[in-house]
Amino acid sequence: MKWARIRSSVIATTACVITVMSVVAGGADEEASPIFGVKIPAGYRDWQMISVAHEAGSLNDLRAVLGNDIAIKAYRDGTRPFPDGAIIARLAWKYVPSDENNAIFGQIQSFVPGPATNTQFSVKDSKKYADTGGWGYGQFEDGKANRSEALMQTCFACHARGNKADDFVFTHYTP
Ligand code: HEC
Repeated sequence: MKWARIRSSVIATTACVITVMSVVAGGADEEASPIFGVKIPAGYRDWQMISVAHEAGSLNDLRAVLGNDIAIKAYRDGTRPFPDGAIIARLAWKYVPSDENNAIFGQIQSFVPGPATNTQFSVKDSKKYADTGGWGYGQFEDGKANRSEALMQTCFACHARGNKADDFVFTHYTP
């Protein structure tokens, strides 16, 4: 009788600990992209510029592509495939006219970054991400990982259509 009670309380405590552990783990997962587990790399906003671009159409954004030191060195040395540890960040903002600047010019010619849309990362790890050309992907909105697996499946599906010689990266280094 007594043992039965102790045993059931041990079982209840274990179940409780497991629940707490999985809630904590679930919380951490929310910071990471599904499938790839990519998190926002610390200090990415200070990385060096690879290039910039403007997407028209429904995206209508301005974007900056930045690289960590490993990615920048690979770009400058022409090293392909990118070495493990290379990370490329794509920041994007709505493409908006600047009333402030246009008042100075006297005509609408200045377009600047408006609100941020999303930030994407391509992370090179040839072993961990062997099935997707060695690249892991993540997309973040307001600092939170987009948790759509379907979205994550589009990343390499489309990047794989790029040149293998460019290691499935579209952006070229802008001197
Ligand atoms: C429909 C095709 C397509 C899909 C889907 C796509 N990309 Fe891209 N991606 C591109 C193209 C094309 C560029 C270059 C765009 C430009 O510079 O105008 C690009 C650029 C990038 C860059 C800058 C480095 C590079 O490869 O040029 C990153 C980082 C990136 N994409 C990550 C992602 C992530 C993460 C996802 C999934 C959430 C994703 N992409 C989905 C086509 C795609």
